[in-house]
Amino acid sequence: MLVNPKAHLARARREGWALGGFNVFNLESARAVIEAGDQQAAPLLVQTSEGAVKHAGLENMVAIVRQLAGRTRAPVALHLDHGKSVELSRAAVDAGYTSVMIDASRESFDENVRDTSDIVRYAHAHGVHVEAELGTLGGIEDLGEQAVRSMLTDPDQAVRFAATTGVDALAVAVGTSHGAYKFKGTPHLDFARLQEIASRIEQPIVLHGASSLSQEEVLFAERFGARLEHARGIPAELIQKAVTMG
Ligand code: CO
Repeated sequence: MLVNPKAHLARARREGWALGGFNVFNLESARAVIEAGDQQAAPLLVQTSEGAVKHAGLENMVAIVRQLAGRTRAPVALHLDHGKSVELSRAAVDAGYTSVMIDASRESFDENVRDTSDIVRYAHAHGVHVEAELGTLGGIEDLGEQAVRSMLTDPDQAVRFAATTGVDALAVAVGTSHGAYKFKGTPHLDFARLQEIASRIEQPIVLHGASSLSQEEVLFAERFGARLEHARGIPAELIQKAVTMG
């Protein structure tokens, strides 16, 4: 069934587990993710990037996911990933998404608060869940110490942001990075920072750039011609540790 993920995320936060967020872009990928969720009886977020929205269209993605989700017992949220503008996030609410992200993390703190508050008001009036992001994603090992401090999420700011905007879930930067080529060095997450943020805000915390990529999967893909030299994700142990922390 298609759901607003708020209650499931709150329960996961309380009980120390997490919902997976999986990007889809067409019928086939949506089917694969939703069928896997059904087999695991796991609540999950089926999400679309701006690229997927350009490719398939908001209304078509809503139609596909609503139809597939309606045939499963697994609670499925249709989520807009990294909505870079207030307009796109509003359009996703209007089209029937049950969750939207407004990502104004590249703007100033005040502009991020303003855009997020705007979408929170609009989405909540339509029964839709909202995620926002504070901080800039990047591998800790790839940055200097100065850059790390300015990019990773500041716990004091997170507290102010969560309270001011009333956002439902908050994506933080603690050392993960998007893509399969995340790091030059060894993946390393700032767990002390995550711990502090988690202890000071009630909202479920979202970890972006948290895909794993096992050697087994790399070898499997390479058998069919893929070239994935130097590709590496976040080791499963680090993700599991982050999950237990909120
Ligand atoms: Co992301």
